[in-house]
Amino acid sequence: MAVALVTGASTGIGKATAIRLARDPGTELVLVARREELLRELAESLPCRATHLAADLTADDAPQRVRAHLEAEHGGKLQLLVNNAGAAWRGSFAEGGAANVRRHMELNFDAVVRLTEALLPALRTSAPSAIVNVASTAGRVARARTGAYSASKFALIGWTDALYAEERPHGVHVGSVLPGFIATEGFPATELRERALTRWIVSKPERVAEAIVEAGPGGKAERYVPRPYALAAIARILAPHLVRRVLSGDSAAALTTSTESEGG
Ligand SMILES: NC(=O)c1ccc[n+]([C@@H]2O[C@H](COP(=O)([O-])OP(=O)(O)OC[C@H]3O[C@@H](n4cnc5c(N)ncnc54)[C@H](OP(=O)(O)O)[C@@H]3O)[C@@H](O)[C@H]2O)c1
Repeated sequence: MAVALVTGASTGIGKATAIRLARDPGTELVLVARREELLRELAESLPCRATHLAADLTADDAPQRVRAHLEAEHGGKLQLLVNNAGAAWRGSFAEGGAANVRRHMELNFDAVVRLTEALLPALRTSAPSAIVNVASTAGRVARARTGAYSASKFALIGWTDALYAEERPHGVHVGSVLPGFIATEGFPATELRERALTRWIVSKPERVAEAIVEAGPGGKAERYVPRPYALAAIARILAPHLVRRVLSGDSAAALTTSTESEGG
């Protein structure tokens, strides 16, 4: 029996991950997000035992609430923590300022760190176990109007790499998953899907779910989805001038997408 907790499980990549994990025999799931009705519907539709907890992960008491739920419902066991909940609010720095950077850090970085801190003892006592942090290719290559989002994902990847080395001796594998453009509720990628020229670069949440499983216990330390997105990260290191020129030129506008959280 393996207990897996997925944050941001109400939609998109988190929901696809829950559905994928539920196929593995003996899995018990804990689904976390804010929208309780969506979590309940998903939990009831899965072929395995699944409990849910409605929580805003940026709230002060969220980590303790999740830990208490895990202890009450799953005996405090945890073999897999998938830190997936996240969002993006597009805008230049001149428009969004420090407040927009803080908003991204609170959800995409601080909330992950705080939840991991609360659940690390359970992961260690349940070892071999794993933490999978859902970052982004934007955590390797930044574009205009996504600076605050990129900052939060760069931070997440750096912290994840250190945690990988620290938790290895304790039997807790730590993996990063770096999706590219994936059509979901929060990141619809409508602009890219509408054009034949760019439609092919948009992928599906189910592919990320598979990568999350690959980065789970005893698995990969880093996984791009789809894999060729790794080339963007490599180019950023090997040919930074070229990448900067492309991403600040006219063609970069073709890669500009709006997000569901934009107006928020
Ligand atoms: N789709 C892409 O193109 C893409 C690319 C790279 C990385 N990613 C990353 O993949 C992850 C999942 O995104 P997605 O594409 O699946 O988007 P999504 O469909 O919008 O899912 C985001 C999930 O996070 C939850 N969430 C948001 N704010 C929350 C909060 N304060 N507390 C608790 N849960 C919260 C949402 O549920 P509730 O609203 O019910 O709380 C939802 O389940 C994110 O970390 C995102 O940065 C996505």
